[in-house]
Amino acid sequence: MAQHNIKLKDLTKIFSLGLLGKKRIVAVDRVNLEIKSGEILGVLGESGCGKTTMARMILRLLRPTSGKIFFDNIDVWGLKKWSEIREYYKNVQGIFQDPYASFNPRRRVLDSLYDTMRFLPDIAHDISKSREYLREILNSVGLKLEELENKYPHQLSGGQLQRVAIARALIPHPIFIVADEPVSMVDASTRIDILNIFIDLKQEYGVSPVIIGHDYSLAYYVSDRIVVLYRGQIVEEGSPEVLEDPAHPYTKLLKESVPLINRKWSKKFKPNIVAYDATVRGKGCIFAHRCPFRKPVCIEKEPPIVSLGRSKVRCWLYATN
Ligand SMILES: Nc1ncnc2c1ncn2[C@@H]1O[C@H](COP(=O)(O)OP(=O)(O)OP(=O)(O)O)[C@@H](O)[C@H]1O
Ligand code: SF4
Ligand SMILES: [Mg+2]
Repeated sequence: MAQHNIKLKDLTKIFSLGLLGKKRIVAVDRVNLEIKSGEILGVLGESGCGKTTMARMILRLLRPTSGKIFFDNIDVWGLKKWSEIREYYKNVQGIFQDPYASFNPRRRVLDSLYDTMRFLPDIAHDISKSREYLREILNSVGLKLEELENKYPHQLSGGQLQRVAIARALIPHPIFIVADEPVSMVDASTRIDILNIFIDLKQEYGVSPVIIGHDYSLAYYVSDRIVVLYRGQIVEEGSPEVLEDPAHPYTKLLKESVPLINRKWSKKFKPNIVAYDATVRGKGCIFAHRCPFRKPVCIEKEPPIVSLGRSKVRCWLYATN
């Protein structure tokens, strides 16, 4: 199977706040990342670390402040013609956290799916072929076409509607699906089922999902490769084993914060949530304000990215000089 990739090069998004725009939030900070076809990439990080901002830039919904995004070496934000943009969306689709916000509430869900068939003009003009195509796609996400007949979004559960959203994203047979918190708003009992759909998509349909979320265990469960984000920067990147035995102090802290069942009654366990002012950024390590291993150099200079074999970490602890 041909290899495809999405490359993020020094990708940055800065939001200006206040009337004069003097306060700035660096939501995504010089991110360099290669997303490859054939794998499930998990992007993990706590609230406010820039996950949605990154997803929206990849999906051409939010223009980067600087840096570039390439899909198979094509500059995604350099696309001008609608036909080229459409070709990009044929290959790179998105799924969002709230399935109800992703569908027109006044349109029947099947009609929304028929609308998306415009990506496939050869089939779209033939109603019976379209119906069979949709039936097959809905089956692949565990739904039956008949059960959606005449239904509006509010008549489906969050889990069902998220499956429909996945089906809709699958219609053009994309190479990548960028899914921003696809299970955080669905019932806990159906989360694994939906994550299993993404695994099936990779294995059976050759679609490569990028699953963005804040849940440590789910990221471990679903991903072939993990990227840990903190305050807009990738702090650790590697195989899912990095979550078993993390190297970066922030990933370690995330791991300790996972509320395991056997910790339920322990008074010692406190989730490690620390408020910080997102508009304030020092010149050194972005994690220095919380890091138990902080050294003087951490406040003075940005840490280098160090390769540890199975992972890469952005931390002075592993730098040789
Ligand atoms: N439109 C905006 N204007 C100003 N600041 C914004 C805007 N969108 C996001 N931000 C800020 O950028 C940072 C990253 O936000 P983002 O929504 O990307 O985080 P996230 O990781 O998706 O968080 P969550 O897990 O809560 O969804 C946050 O500090 C957020 O407040
Ligand atoms: S560079 Fe320093 S402050 Fe930052 S994570 Fe590493 S040890 Fe902690
Ligand atoms: Mg988000």
